[in-house]
Amino acid sequence: MNIILLGPPGAGKGTQAHRLVAERGMVQLSTGDMLRAARTSGTEMGKQVATVMDRGDLVTDEIVIGLIAEQLDNGAGGKGFIFDGFPRTLPQADALGELLESKGQNLHAVVEMKVDDAALISRITGRYTCNECGAVYHDETKKPAKDGECDKCGGHEFTRRADDNEESLRTRLMNYYRDTSPLIGYYYAKDQLKRIDGLGEINEVAARVAGVLDT
Ligand code: AP5
Repeated sequence: MNIILLGPPGAGKGTQAHRLVAERGMVQLSTGDMLRAARTSGTEMGKQVATVMDRGDLVTDEIVIGLIAEQLDNGAGGKGFIFDGFPRTLPQADALGELLESKGQNLHAVVEMKVDDAALISRITGRYTCNECGAVYHDETKKPAKDGECDKCGGHEFTRRADDNEESLRTRLMNYYRDTSPLIGYYYAKDQLKRIDGLGEINEVAARVAGVLDT
């Protein structure tokens, strides 16, 4: 089963993707994570995209389609791919369709996670991540069980993303409504769209995701 998690910044795509990886053995392909890894390892492409990402703008279709094509070529799909943060433009959506078709694979569902802007701001500005394993936390809604210690790996160092501030978030939201929201109609017309309410506790949202995938 290959699925797309579609939603604005802070909708909970990464959080729900981690659950699906743990519970169903699916493989998460997050273009945001791939781009951040390229920045950390200091590749030429990583340097190229750094300022664009910090500003909250989209990097080029060519770069992200290349990243996804590389992962699909590796072929380790396990129980299926979760596309998280990809596609984000109509050309990316067309490219994904072609890539999957060339591998004899299908897209089973596109899960749109709906969350209002006020909730997105508080989710984004409260987010932090474990430096060791990438586990995602929140100042209010998802604290580690032991203060300052990652539940998953025991790490003690955490980071906040450079684009998790109100100014970049405004740009990210604008880009979402302008470039990414047309994908809702695109996948609706293909009869692949499943819409869920992304508000509520993480477990409640996980149950809604499971509900649409299992019907
Ligand atoms: P990317 O990393 O994809 O960021 P994003 O789409 O803005 O999404 P986020 O990671 O911010 O949010 P999320 O929905 O995963 O939320 P999360 O689960 O963490 O992209 C970053 C940048 O890379 C882009 O701006 C762009 O520059 C570039 N890029 C990436 N892909 C690209 C592409 N395809 N094309 C062009 N450019 C691309 O949750 C957020 C917080 O809320 C967490 O703290 C979490 O604990 C908390 N939370 C989650 N669920 C709940 C809940 N139900 N209730 C309460 N709190 C919750």
